[in-house]
Amino acid sequence: MQYRSFGKTGWDVSEISFGAWQLGGQWGAVDDEESISALLQSYEQGINFVDTAEFYGFGHSEEVIGESLRRWQGDKIYVATKIRPIQWPNPDQDDPQMRGRYPEWYIREGIDASLKRLGVEQLDLLQLHCWAPSAATELDWLETLNALKIEGKINKIGVSIRDYRPDEGVDLAKLGLVDSIQVIFNLFEQRPVDALFPASASSSTAIIDRVAFDSGSLSGLWTPATYDSWEDGSQQKEMFRGERFSETYKRVEALKELVSPYYSSLAEAAVKYVLSSPEVSTVIAGMSSSRNIARNVGYSDGESFPDELRTQLTDHAWIRNYYK
Ligand SMILES: NC(=O)c1ccc[n+]([C@@H]2O[C@H](COP(=O)([O-])OP(=O)(O)OC[C@H]3O[C@@H](n4cnc5c(N)ncnc54)[C@H](OP(=O)(O)O)[C@@H]3O)[C@@H](O)[C@H]2O)c1
Repeated sequence: MQYRSFGKTGWDVSEISFGAWQLGGQWGAVDDEESISALLQSYEQGINFVDTAEFYGFGHSEEVIGESLRRWQGDKIYVATKIRPIQWPNPDQDDPQMRGRYPEWYIREGIDASLKRLGVEQLDLLQLHCWAPSAATELDWLETLNALKIEGKINKIGVSIRDYRPDEGVDLAKLGLVDSIQVIFNLFEQRPVDALFPASASSSTAIIDRVAFDSGSLSGLWTPATYDSWEDGSQQKEMFRGERFSETYKRVEALKELVSPYYSSLAEAAVKYVLSSPEVSTVIAGMSSSRNIARNVGYSDGESFPDELRTQLTDHAWIRNYYK
């Protein structure tokens, strides 16, 4: 496992980190003991960063992580959690207001609940689960978070940018208002390299990459029967509904062919593509099996990404938002 500096925090974080949405149960039934075992296996293999949220299983993912921390005897594990806004903005709205979404009383209540579920005295990293560009100049949220830092309840603060809107983080990154920005960046969504990454580099804001596997499609393991194998009501069944699954499958098959002379799997290419941007501090991989944990840890090998492949991949960029 290779490690990277996490912006200006002084932390060294593993290139591969653990995305813990699935542990909450929204992607299908979960066994908590299996989840704790997956977390402990990942810590043993050098993963020292976990991403979760109050929203993931409405606290359940945090509780499971808290239990894993109590059982872990090794080095420091950084846990990044998130707080939902009182009301999510409409994903189609271009410039939603931030004011009113994070009142002080609400942030305080949310943080106390997360501290309790994780069983810690201080949150390593608290991310706002929602962001609107107007909040770069309307700073009530930051006053509250700074107060909580001074009180010792939070160590670092971050923001998770809305799905498929990387440019919403550019001013925030230029200003360096937070320690980290979380964004979707993968073989389909390539836009963060244009403006967000240079802006984050200018202020040493850490970049946390999410959905490197496009929530599963870029694993390269789908077959035409995969959709019907998912549990009714699960997150992935909703995301890839209707024509979405077949459209995605077609594009993934083209990508598999393109990367095959370079990598043994599309999953390997997907992770190494993301890691080839030095602005990315860590890739939060959603993973539940021992096999995928070991595979992903193995992809963090410090090897460079072929320039000619990167150039060819630009033709496969694809912008859409299946979270709505
Ligand atoms: N708004 C936000 O802030 C936001 C939104 C979405 C996600 N997130 C964060 O990002 C994390 C990752 O998102 P995600 O789980 O949706 O997407 P993801 O990491 O792109 O994909 C996860 C899927 O990829 C599979 N996988 C992982 N490693 C693999 C490998 N080496 N080979 C083959 N398949 C592999 C996993 O399978 P197995 O489960 O079978 O191992 C799982 O089905 C979440 O857990 C959460 O922490 C944040």
